[in-house]
Amino acid sequence: MNVGWRWCLRGFAILDTNANAINKELIMRVLVIGSGGREHALVWKLSQSSGVDRLYCAPGNAGIGETAQTVDIPPDKVSHLLQFAKSEKVDLTVVGPELPLTLGIVDRFEKAGLKIFGVNSQAAQLEGSKAFAKRLMQESRIPTAPFVVFNDMKQALRYLDLKGAPCVIKADGLAAGKGVTVAQTREEAEKAIVEAMKEEIFGDAGKTIIIEECLQGEELSMMALVDGNTVFPLALCQDHKALQDGDRGPNTGGMGAYSPVTHFGGELESEIVDTVLRPVVRALRKRGIAYRGVLYAGLMVCGGRPTVLEFNVRFGDPEAQPLLARYTGDLLLTLEAVVDQRLACIESQWDSRAAVCVVLTASGYPGSVRSGDIIQGLDSLKAFKDVMVFHAGTERKGDQVVTKGGRVLGVTALGETFPKAVERAYEAVGKIRWEGMHYRKDIGHRAVRKAA
Ligand code: AMP
Ligand code: GLY
Repeated sequence: MNVGWRWCLRGFAILDTNANAINKELIMRVLVIGSGGREHALVWKLSQSSGVDRLYCAPGNAGIGETAQTVDIPPDKVSHLLQFAKSEKVDLTVVGPELPLTLGIVDRFEKAGLKIFGVNSQAAQLEGSKAFAKRLMQESRIPTAPFVVFNDMKQALRYLDLKGAPCVIKADGLAAGKGVTVAQTREEAEKAIVEAMKEEIFGDAGKTIIIEECLQGEELSMMALVDGNTVFPLALCQDHKALQDGDRGPNTGGMGAYSPVTHFGGELESEIVDTVLRPVVRALRKRGIAYRGVLYAGLMVCGGRPTVLEFNVRFGDPEAQPLLARYTGDLLLTLEAVVDQRLACIESQWDSRAAVCVVLTASGYPGSVRSGDIIQGLDSLKAFKDVMVFHAGTERKGDQVVTKGGRVLGVTALGETFPKAVERAYEAVGKIRWEGMHYRKDIGHRAVRKAA
């Protein structure tokens, strides 16, 4: 990267013909918040940026600890994180998960004069309240499934009697990825309504629910960076939500993902930008909400047209893993450009190869999981070319790495073609083992079929 390019990215405040002065300005302390595969991928990519001097991650995991200094503060302890960022003179904080965003971490850091990448609490409602997101989409004519919002269980059950199954029941608030039931029968739907509204299994998050029409089609995710005005589309990704091969079994946070997705044809991407991403940023702006951060649209492609299932206000996980594996731009400069509202200066740069991420989970996932199993084979993968092992639920215990959570590792591989990327990823997966390890054997199957 030449110096002139950096001037464009950083604005003219640092315009200086002395290259050393510019380099000094570019050296930054960066804090990443979170502990999943997404955060490991962020740390990995940020560590490649020449502008990063010191990298911290709170709380991080065993893999992240090899690249960044881990800090034992959970993501929801906003005051502690702020205190840490102040005391360590952190120049930029990058927020991974949604919870701190909905808790207003960005508002708090900005008020304290600290730079932070992520949306503010008002914009975070787009993920924090499904009713808010659905109403916004309805008002702005963004394609989404027809729906009704309920605060009263009796009314919800009466509506169910009228509409019948299949239908989709969604808890309004954050429910750790468990708040959605795609009900094939009336009984399943009733159970989901009662559990959310009477038994309050999601606490306050389920006091309001949405009943929406069940859509048929193929799922797809598209993320973009947004600096308030400019929408910077990222490559299309496809997640595999179900636990078992062939999209069977319960839904999970995601069992694997790949990028790019080319089998829908090139037009779909610009259609999503024009009919979904730009309109939602505009609709929020009309309400006085500036959107600065990641905008994630979870979509169902129905008859070739994109329909929104949900919005998230952060990078998808595992989608971030293949996505960042392919991003060849400087991530620090890109994220800073979002914060400084200079995204229009950034060029989109991607590795033309395919990336595939296979998620390895612990025994019991997505239910209650067993932790503390020793992971074997990690060292042998360090020599694998174009394979990144992103850690999620892992912990270092002495000289061992052990499981600590449901999704444990994301084995991500690059390949000249999809079949090559898939083959490389599974070859690497074959070297890893622990008791109770589970993974899907068919990640990327649609792309592989298409490539055949
Ligand atoms: P969400 O958190 O809203 O994306 O929902 C989680 C998952 O539930 C999605 O990835 C889909 O697999 C499924 N889902 C959500 N809404 C619908 C819908 N209207 N029709 C069919 N499936 C849906
Ligand atoms: N993989 C889906 C999500 O991050 O919400």
